[in-house]
Amino acid sequence: MDLKLLVAFLLITGSSSTQDVLPPGPVDITLGKDVVLKTLLTDLKDFAFVIWNYSDGKDQVNVATLLPTELRVDDAYKNRAWIDPKTGNLRLNATKKEDSGDYSISILQTATGTRTGEIKLRVLEPVSNVAIQSDLKEAIEHNSTVVLTCTAKGSFLKFSWVHGTAPVVADDKRISLKEEEQSSSLTIRDVLRSDAAKPFICSAANKLETEKSSPFNLTVFYGPEKVSLSPTPILPFVRAGSDFSLTCTAVSSPAATFSWIHDKKPMKAAGPVLKLQDIKAEGFDKTKGTYACIAKNAKTLRHVSSPEVSFTVMEAISGVSITGPKTTLISGNGTASLECKATAGVVLSRSWLKNGAALSAGGRLTFSKDESTLTINPVDKDDNGEYTCRLANPVNSEDAKFKLVVNYGPEPVTITGKQEVEVDDAVTLTCAAASVPPANIIWKFNDTATTVKGPNYVIEKAVYKNTGLYTCEAHNTVTGKKTVGTHHMMVKEAGTLEQGLSDGAIAGIVIAILVALAAAIALIFYCRQKVPVESPY
Ligand SMILES: *[C@@H]1O[C@H](CO)[C@@H](O)[C@H](O)[C@H]1NC(C)=O
Ligand SMILES: *[C@@H]1O[C@H](CO)[C@@H](O)[C@H](O)[C@H]1NC(C)=O
Ligand SMILES: *[C@@H]1O[C@H](CO)[C@@H](O)[C@H](O)[C@H]1NC(C)=O
Ligand SMILES: *[C@@H]1O[C@H](CO)[C@@H](O)[C@H](O)[C@H]1NC(C)=O
Repeated sequence: MDLKLLVAFLLITGSSSTQDVLPPGPVDITLGKDVVLKTLLTDLKDFAFVIWNYSDGKDQVNVATLLPTELRVDDAYKNRAWIDPKTGNLRLNATKKEDSGDYSISILQTATGTRTGEIKLRVLEPVSNVAIQSDLKEAIEHNSTVVLTCTAKGSFLKFSWVHGTAPVVADDKRISLKEEEQSSSLTIRDVLRSDAAKPFICSAANKLETEKSSPFNLTVFYGPEKVSLSPTPILPFVRAGSDFSLTCTAVSSPAATFSWIHDKKPMKAAGPVLKLQDIKAEGFDKTKGTYACIAKNAKTLRHVSSPEVSFTVMEAISGVSITGPKTTLISGNGTASLECKATAGVVLSRSWLKNGAALSAGGRLTFSKDESTLTINPVDKDDNGEYTCRLANPVNSEDAKFKLVVNYGPEPVTITGKQEVEVDDAVTLTCAAASVPPANIIWKFNDTATTVKGPNYVIEKAVYKNTGLYTCEAHNTVTGKKTVGTHHMMVKEAGTLEQGLSDGAIAGIVIAILVALAAAIALIFYCRQKVPVESPY
């Protein structure tokens, strides 16, 4: 049979009896790649012809025909198509888009007669240009609906999405997905900042390959939230002139801008830190006030206020001093007033101490109503000492000190010293009398004035005529008072007072014994050396 005729015959009659010549299709191949349409045959023997035809759904054309002696390839497939004589496989090199369609095979063998088969080939365009685009450049949390569209080039595409590493699953409430032939859109209602925390990646795939988009970051603006002031807690009083400041923070994207309110009215100050200086500049440092900050987000257009805090700016106490009596005070006569004042600051409490111990009113001590003045009436010798006035407020405290001098005395005189001494003994008599200021002391002997002044009457070597009555007179020039004391002393013959050996005598004896001992030892050594050595001659 003429081949052309045969082909024509087959094209006209076709064949619907598939007899396990071809596997089920379709066969997919990437555009430009070589494809082999395999038969299920392994050993093709005694065939009259193998014909491969192509149909695009309308027209059928011959691709190639294999005869026992030759392979005939249609002009349209010249150098591209080839039939394997062993299996009947059709190899098609450098596939084109137009190669997509149905391929049929007809085989005539003497043993089995004519067998036919049909298989679909899909030439897939490679997946490329996978990209995500958002309908919104910037989204507002809880407000915006964002549509991300993933587009790609290629045929028979399937799209999928991941957020970070997790696959995106539509819940058809907040997240929905819509697939089109060349694109997929992901709709996110009421976007959350968590949607922007990780990138979205879209994948487009056909049967043969998968391509990913580059990661796409959503921009979601949010806040302000958690608007708060520090330091916490705020103390009720703030020291004037200190470096105190309030700091406002907020969770916000983009970063919030801050303004301030004082007693519910806007302040001129702006920025995250409100300094004491700023408060002073607006004249709010005189009274108690409430403060809050307002955080504003330029993108979300939301503004949120911090909780209110309240405090009083208070000037620290300084320049504390005590004014005391200018006149000379004498015990038992007169009044002492100590007045305590500060040059600056708010004084909320005053207290008094004497020599470090707290003073309270009572007896001779009275305080003015505000405790700024301490009055002692009448003054007494016990009032001598250091007085402290302590002024305090919640931001500081400061002390002032004053030394109060109350003149008194002299008190009765006491004389210490021996009453009996031996001739040549050294003698010291000491006279003491408590007195402010210290008393002037003069001495008399047998009621006769001496030249000795001061507390000590010193006799270097006693003589018999030192026996007699010693009188000490103490005189306070401020109080004008004088006290007198007397002391009898008798000078006796040497050795009459059994006092044992003096320290000096004991030391002398000990030294004498030691010297004698040393001499004895030296002598022994000297004698040993002097033993005569016998002469060998
Ligand atoms: C997306 O965000 C990640 C970190 O979250 C960052 O490393 C990456 O550079 C961002 N990509 C783009 C395109 O902005
Ligand atoms: C957020 O949504 C509300 C109502 O849905 C709207 O009034 C407001 O203007 C939106 N805010 C922004 C910043 O778009
Ligand atoms: C107190 O002092 C005044 C004046 O210095 C004096 O006149 C008066 O006598 C004194 N009184 C006593 C009790 O010492
Ligand atoms: C001092 O008086 C005593 C007796 O009171 C007398 O024994 C003594 O001799 C007198 N001394 C002188 C130096 O007058």
